[in-house]
Amino acid sequence: MAFNVLNRKCGCSCAFKAPSRAVATCVSSCEARKSERKAACASRLARQLLALAKAEGAPDHARDLEIVDLRAVADTAARDWAPKAHAQDIDLGFALERAVVLADPLLLPELVDNLIDNALRYTPAGGTVTVHTGCDNETPYLSVEDTGPGIPDAERAKVVERFYRIPGTRGEGSGLGLAIVKEVVDRHCGKLEIDACAAGRGTRIRVTFPAGVPAGQPA
Ligand SMILES: Nc1ncnc2c1ncn2[C@@H]1O[C@H](COP(=O)(O)OP(=O)(O)OP(=O)(O)O)[C@@H](O)[C@H]1O
Ligand SMILES: [Mg+2]
Repeated sequence: MAFNVLNRKCGCSCAFKAPSRAVATCVSSCEARKSERKAACASRLARQLLALAKAEGAPDHARDLEIVDLRAVADTAARDWAPKAHAQDIDLGFALERAVVLADPLLLPELVDNLIDNALRYTPAGGTVTVHTGCDNETPYLSVEDTGPGIPDAERAKVVERFYRIPGTRGEGSGLGLAIVKEVVDRHCGKLEIDACAAGRGTRIRVTFPAGVPAGQPA
């Protein structure tokens, strides 16, 4: 069987070059991938909006508060995010110590997932992402550090605004992740800090919460 080798491109971003007969197959599979990506984006946007509504809602949510160990939330995230980190060739590490807070147990995973999602999304292959939990002078904290491009000083206040993305940010996203994180932190009277890692590069996002239970009491 002879192919008419025209070395044509399929017209999408995959820059696939192939004999003309194969081009038709590639075009349809690229279209299918584009539709899948659009559907995934729409579904993520819906989940992000829902999470934001959840974080904003329930002004009198004292009854929803439970004693939660941030270490357990991060431990679950470790299992959830390991395959994505592996696929992207990013070294995802966890250094977890007890960090007990009084919190809405449904909101904390949203916070942790958005921070890890960002760190993995914006850190190039070969980089490192590290999640820490613990207590600093009895103040429970969780931090996510990465070796990515960093968030410039001038952008740090803006990235927590809804629908804001740093100009030039590549890839999909709707600019809601850090707004959700901020909302969850505010709900719990916590504090959100965005800076660079110790070496002055990458991003470190650290959240602290009021102490949940007196030291020595089981979570
Ligand atoms: N770890 C990071 N390293 C570098 N830039 C980051 C990091 N985290 C966030 N940013 C920047 O801050 C912007 C806002 O982040 P945010 O999580 O709110 O939205 P997003 O990731 O664009 O979309 P999504 O709603 O899907 O999370 C990002 O678009 C990116 O420009
Ligand atoms: Mg995000």
